[in-house]
Amino acid sequence: MTDQSATIKIGDKTANLSVKSGTIGPDVIDIGALYKNTGSFTYDPGFTSTASCESKITYIDGDEGVLLHRGYPIEQLAEHGDFLEVCYLLLYGELPTAAQKKDFDFRVTHHTMVHEQMSRFFTGFRRDAHPMAVMCGCVGALSAFYHDSTDITDPHQRMVASLRMIAKMPTIAAMAYKYYIGQPFVYPKNDLDYASNFLRMCFAVPCEEYVVNPVLSRAMDRIFILHADHEQNASTSTVRLAGSSGANPFACIAAGIACLWGPAHGGANEAALNMLSEIGTVDRIPEYIARAKDKNDPFRLMGFGHRVYKNYDPRAKIMQKTTHEVLAELGHRDDPLLEVAMELERIALTDEYFVEKKLYPNIDFYSGITLKALGFPTTMFTVLFALARTVGWIAQWNEMIEDPQQRIGRPRQLYVGEPQRDYVPVSKR
Ligand code: SDX
Repeated sequence: MTDQSATIKIGDKTANLSVKSGTIGPDVIDIGALYKNTGSFTYDPGFTSTASCESKITYIDGDEGVLLHRGYPIEQLAEHGDFLEVCYLLLYGELPTAAQKKDFDFRVTHHTMVHEQMSRFFTGFRRDAHPMAVMCGCVGALSAFYHDSTDITDPHQRMVASLRMIAKMPTIAAMAYKYYIGQPFVYPKNDLDYASNFLRMCFAVPCEEYVVNPVLSRAMDRIFILHADHEQNASTSTVRLAGSSGANPFACIAAGIACLWGPAHGGANEAALNMLSEIGTVDRIPEYIARAKDKNDPFRLMGFGHRVYKNYDPRAKIMQKTTHEVLAELGHRDDPLLEVAMELERIALTDEYFVEKKLYPNIDFYSGITLKALGFPTTMFTVLFALARTVGWIAQWNEMIEDPQQRIGRPRQLYVGEPQRDYVPVSKR
């Protein structure tokens, strides 16, 4: 709390509101007393100026292009850590000791199998069902299997559910992929690390041994780190809102997956790759830049722009580096999509429309090229985003439940409909 305050006068009514300061970042005006004192609501449809909660998990400085997880810069975590270490940090608030990391890795590894009956869920979907639709269905269905970890008032059950989600999302994602391509499911192997296990469950076939490529599994692990958490984005806010009603964690994560699917959010990686493929060659870029600037054309450059970043998304820089590493390892240095992406980025970063609106590449701009090179179809891109973001959703969900200020989320509105009127019998309409 600061000693500052804000006063809002509306007509003859006045609200004296307290101003709260965080560790870093903008202060907030606590408007809880506004309606009681003035009879007015605030109005902020996209929540562009609204803080929904206090949080200690992630901090973004959009102007400087800074992303911190529990205070640690994403660049350092991506360079020196692994995904399960970042999971531990997001969940518990501190980097694990060697013993804590060993225990955490063991616990996650030994929860990677799903209930055998889960496999029957997949047969209910059409083979060509979008894997995100399958993920929404299957993750929501987990609450039908794990009744012993749905009591959200029990910290132990919350942590069991949290570990189950982190451990089982790769297995469910891989099953969604195998079902989609008509291949048999591959069970997890406990002697593999998280990312290697996932790649093997996706790409191993019964006919031959699958050999993990360490460069590719390190790249996969780093991609998971880059997507782990991102403050109060749309899908995280969805998980928090669903959780505020007391819904079980599996249902809340399923709600987050559904929200992430949108092309303006996690679906942008699939949309960005489809856009690069549609552009096809460097000489067609000006046509698409013009369309992106045309107010009458709904087309947007997918993978560009961000609600918070008004500078380069720090994750995109690391993603670009990973893209080059993966393409080099696979001998695809001259991938035409990469050539189009780099030229599009170069042009956009010098075009006054994008400069004036501070539109920079975001995490989704390069991730699609990398995931395609790793062997995933575009329909799997957002599934991988959801897999990685599950730890962020779960950490934020736990923080929300443990927050003493937390109540059920229930926004109000500005009503612009008809004033009260009487029913008219159909004979008189
Ligand atoms: C993610 O919130 C998070 O943290 C999300 C995320 C995470 O990790 O959880 O970072 C993941 O969702 C990244 C964003 C992925 N989405 C895309 O790449 C889709 C393309 N981007 C846009 O749809 C848009 O930039 C958003 C949705 C990302 C942000 O939208 P805002 O904040 O509501 O901004 P806006 O739509 O009001 O745009 C501001 C202006 C507008 O022009 P004006 O009306 O002011 O004239 O910039 C223009 C927009 O038309 N604009 C674009 C553009 N993005 C914004 N113009 C062309 N191409 C674009 N991509």
